[in-house]
Amino acid sequence: MKGIILAGGHGTRLHPITRAVSKHLLPIYDKPLVYYPITTLMLAGVREILVISTPESLPAFRRLLGDGSDWGVTFSYAAQSEPRGLAEAFLIGADFVDAQPCALALGDNVFHGAGLTGQLIEAGNLTDGAAIFTYKVHDPHRFGIVELGADGNPISIEEKPQTPKSNWAVTGLYFYDANVVDIARRVKPSARGETEITDVNADYLSRGKLRVFQLPRGTAWLDAGTTDSLLQASLYVQTLEQRQRFRIACPEEVAWRRGFIDGPQLRKLGDALNNDYGTYLASLLDSD
Ligand code: DAU
Repeated sequence: MKGIILAGGHGTRLHPITRAVSKHLLPIYDKPLVYYPITTLMLAGVREILVISTPESLPAFRRLLGDGSDWGVTFSYAAQSEPRGLAEAFLIGADFVDAQPCALALGDNVFHGAGLTGQLIEAGNLTDGAAIFTYKVHDPHRFGIVELGADGNPISIEEKPQTPKSNWAVTGLYFYDANVVDIARRVKPSARGETEITDVNADYLSRGKLRVFQLPRGTAWLDAGTTDSLLQASLYVQTLEQRQRFRIACPEEVAWRRGFIDGPQLRKLGDALNNDYGTYLASLLDSD
């Protein structure tokens, strides 16, 4: 399974903070926002990742992430000149996807919680159909919404419905089989002028090929789209990290635990950071 991180857009809801810097590079407590969805993909077993952002922001992403070899993954980069919709990720990334299964993670979605890794691994092994992750919300008109039958299978899916049929929001993490590029090519812009990922999901649903993972209530799904949610996400991460002494969404740690890199490489990454983050990486080796 390959993976795309979509981290473009103008971030207007966060202006003036995001006038000169991409929202996805802002800190969520001790690491840049984009580390969180990248780590989500890595936990799902994804090692080939395409990062899509605006032409202005791509150099900063390259500086932050490099070619991925430090973490035992590969990063490539592509530009989206205007935010024309989430489904466009698969048109921009068509050569990268190369007719293989591919996941999409929105660059501003943060997932955390017990049991999540098992679901991610299962989704990462998908070769036929699509898988989405849903989360129960109190403000369903703001999201893609999926209606579920008693058996948990999806019945309908709609983008930001005025009269939502359920409270199950579709989160910004999607897994697709090799057909996704062809399906995305057929999607027409919606009333808001965007090619909607919901239309891609609806295509899979119409063929009985959409699997839905319901995130349990003990899981956190945060998006960092507003100043409040940005601060809340930081406080959430700080609270858990200080209490447990484990870092959330630390790509170096995940790379090492997953066997993408070995112990000496983890130590090298820790030694290169003369701060608490580096000390944490080294401490993982000493405590195991
Ligand atoms: O967060 C989950 C929701 O994400 C889903 O429930 C919706 O079904 C889905 O359409 C999307 O909702 P939004 O319309 O609120 O997404 P937003 O425009 O905020 O964009 C999400 C991220 O993707 C954000 O980090 C900016 C980036 N983006 C967005 C668009 C439209 C791009 O990089 N390029 C784009 O063309």
